[in-house]
Amino acid sequence: MNARPTSESVPAEQVFDWLDAEAARRAEAGLTRKLRPRGASTAELDLAGNDYLGLARDKRVAGAAAAATLRWGTGSTGSRLVTGSTELHAELEHELARFCGVQAALVFSSGFLANVAAVTALSGAESAIVTDKYIHASLIEGCRLSRSDVAAVAHADPAAVGHALATRRKARALVVTDSVFSVDGDLAPLTELSAVSREHGAALLVDDAHGFGVLGEGGRGAVHAAGLSAEPDVVTTITLSKALGAQGGAVLGPRRVIRHLVETARSFIFDTGLAPASAAAAVAALGVLKTEPHLPAKVLASATRLADLLREEGFAVSAPRSAVISVRTPSASGAVGWAERCAEGGIRVGCFRPPSVPDGVSRLRLTVHAGLTESDVDTAVKVISEAAPPGATS
Ligand SMILES: Cc1ncc(COP(=O)(O)O)c(C=O)c1O
Repeated sequence: MNARPTSESVPAEQVFDWLDAEAARRAEAGLTRKLRPRGASTAELDLAGNDYLGLARDKRVAGAAAAATLRWGTGSTGSRLVTGSTELHAELEHELARFCGVQAALVFSSGFLANVAAVTALSGAESAIVTDKYIHASLIEGCRLSRSDVAAVAHADPAAVGHALATRRKARALVVTDSVFSVDGDLAPLTELSAVSREHGAALLVDDAHGFGVLGEGGRGAVHAAGLSAEPDVVTTITLSKALGAQGGAVLGPRRVIRHLVETARSFIFDTGLAPASAAAAVAALGVLKTEPHLPAKVLASATRLADLLREEGFAVSAPRSAVISVRTPSASGAVGWAERCAEGGIRVGCFRPPSVPDGVSRLRLTVHAGLTESDVDTAVKVISEAAPPGATS
């Protein structure tokens, strides 16, 4: 009889054997993930990053980060409530709030942590949470930590949200959605979601990570474009790490929400404050956005051109509503090979497979940025078409 090994009988070098078994299973399913470090300068055309306005290497932004490092140091030296709040953080929060037309803002060391904070602090065991089923992983993480009743409902479906709110068992409720969904770049029906949330006495939390800097007047984001940023029952999260080309995240909303986060949100209280360089970079990037309000329109024009040309080639392309579009691929391994051949042809594209795609359909994910020329887009379409696996066109 084979005795089940006790923990003592497993040699130390075999303790992690199960990881190899899981890696083999992922490889079998075409789900291996690899890091591909990039050089500081490359001839590769970037259709994978999130530097939508091309500000990460803008001299005004990078210069502000460098100057802040020399003035304030490389790290913020502590959590925000201890030594990690500098005048730079206060300036950034003030500028963000003013730009977006909200009462107050609170800066975090990442957008991921801002989302975890907003969801957990605005819910709890006494709350119901109703989410779109395609929300970002960081919001899902918040829901898991919240101890709330969580219902993930049909994608972009205000009626489904209304039904879940009407049948909830908890008095308090929070509706959670992305504004721009990360995989296909499609938009949430924010006006309708706000109306249905209000009808049922629920707050609305919108993750505007991909909308901020790209959508709305001068890049003020999707929530601002929907006229919801100043509403008393709406809270927005953003990242500083995409259109602003910096690093970090923020929650924007009513003053009493921000106060509540400062006093209760664990991913704010127990995390070292954003580095001064990132805070200064974000302030500088906001300054650029204010002086060059035409930048977001360039992003949307490139997305439209890229999507139109790829569709003409016969690919199944998502509608260009933001900086993100996706192209469906026949399989997960087909997607990986396609992305690798694009890289060999000089185009870096994203490759999204389960579990990053909730519907199980793998995709090439393409992002555009304000610096792309029409000829860059033409080159990208040629390389992507030539690299396509069999079955990628309809
Ligand atoms: C929709 C969405 N929300 C939140 C985040 C997290 O932001 P950050 O990268 O700043 O942690 C991301 C970025 O990956 C995102 O795509």
